[in-house]
Amino acid sequence: MKIVIGNDHAAVELKNEIMAYVKELGHEVVNFGVDTNASCNYPQIGARVGHAVVEEDYDCGILICGTGVGISIAANKIKGVRAAVCSDVTTARLVKQHNNANIIAFGARIVGSELAKDIVKAYLEAEFMGGRHQTRIDMIHELEG
Ligand code: RB5
Repeated sequence: MKIVIGNDHAAVELKNEIMAYVKELGHEVVNFGVDTNASCNYPQIGARVGHAVVEEDYDCGILICGTGVGISIAANKIKGVRAAVCSDVTTARLVKQHNNANIIAFGARIVGSELAKDIVKAYLEAEFMGGRHQTRIDMIHELEG
């Protein structure tokens, strides 16, 4: 898969670990995040990754900030984005199976790196189940107008 990743200053170290891990799993990963601890604004990064997932040639995205919340809220403002914050493996699997989330997000101040890797693996390996879940996703996108 071709994956885009983004992070703010709270998540540089975890982003680097996750990038290495995603490559180990055999995927291509492109970094739109920051690489220094200098304070930055996560909405710009969430939006950039959101646009990339919807408009460019990426299969999915990964977003990391302190909690995963701010950066995913920003990404979810982009039409077509379904970004889901996950702090456990079960949610990570289900957001793909049921919600067909095209971005997974988590918090560097919330999850440790081993759990973060397990979350990413569960998400990447899961498959969207379609059917009634697609109907509900269509309903969500109708809300976007
Ligand atoms: C940055 O300090 C922090 O607010 C950000 O990383 C994130 O947690 C926001 O939701």
